[in-house]
Amino acid sequence: MKPKDLRLMALLAPVKGQLERMREVLAEELRGDSPAVADMTDHLGRFKGKQLRGAVVLLAGQATGNMSDEHATVAAIVELIHLATLVHDDVLDGADVRRRVACVHARWDNQVAVLLGDLLYSRAFGRSTELSSRLCSQVLSATTRDLCAGEIDQAASRYHFEMSLPEYERIAGAKTAGLYAAAAELGASYPGGTAEARSLMRAYGWEMGLAFQIVDDCLDLMGDKQTVGKSVGTDVEDGKVTLPVLHVYGEADEATRAAIRDVYTRAGLAERAVALRGTCDLTAGIERALLRARALVESARGRLASFPTSPARAALDRVGDYVLERKW
Ligand code: FPP
Ligand code: MG
Repeated sequence: MKPKDLRLMALLAPVKGQLERMREVLAEELRGDSPAVADMTDHLGRFKGKQLRGAVVLLAGQATGNMSDEHATVAAIVELIHLATLVHDDVLDGADVRRRVACVHARWDNQVAVLLGDLLYSRAFGRSTELSSRLCSQVLSATTRDLCAGEIDQAASRYHFEMSLPEYERIAGAKTAGLYAAAAELGASYPGGTAEARSLMRAYGWEMGLAFQIVDDCLDLMGDKQTVGKSVGTDVEDGKVTLPVLHVYGEADEATRAAIRDVYTRAGLAERAVALRGTCDLTAGIERALLRARALVESARGRLASFPTSPARAALDRVGDYVLERKW
């Protein structure tokens, strides 16, 4: 096992048993409806990611003293929705590798990837009807609605080099932070829990999730495919102006701005992220973006202060280091 996997295992040790149960539920839901579907869900079973969102459901449950025997199912539902969004996202981004394995649309085609994403999404909601309350379906239907709207807004904002920072955070928040917020909120409140715990954990998840997306945007710009384990450079390729680029563009003179716009838009240009790195110095933009990610992590950590100290609370705190230091 690689050191980064061992580090993640140590981080998630307080909920080891429930994580195993979550993986069992996931495996049940990835069982194929037909031989063709089974072929694809087997493939998905091979690209096991960090499962951080599911883990946050469990850690929030334990840190708030609210762990029930339904938490593992809620965590698996969150992971299924996440998986569905990734299968669709890779089609939208034209990515070819995710979690070091071929993306579904690259191994098969766009048609089946769209349908498989829909299938995973329906499996998630089917499972949520078996829970003792509607809370999980309510929170997650609102979250996925926001997530889709965020993706649509992101597509509508391509090549928008003067996007405001609050607008960037609103979109990044909707597409990524929302699911972390939902995971932490459901962990704290499923099926009981206090309104205060629920709202604190929601804020924790939102801020950690937003920091996660900012780091992801930096990795897409600067990381290499081998280390990150997924296609990189897709944001520039697709006209997405992410936080580090917004910072660099905002500070640049007109000649550099024109060169940046050219790299994003010139017909037939290959490896646009590499070309962008050659056109301008992205270091200051990356540093400012990471500064914002660090501030969000600190704020998220502050939300944990009102819960009693416990291994689960400590793990939620350490998720912050993991988010900031991850290279994949
Ligand atoms: C990742 O952003 C974004 C997401 C995982 C959200 C994508 C959501 C959709 C495509 C909507 C699908 C909706 C349903 C209900 C299935 P990124 O591209 O910046 O991150 P990446 O580097 O991991 O690809
Ligand atoms: Mg993507």
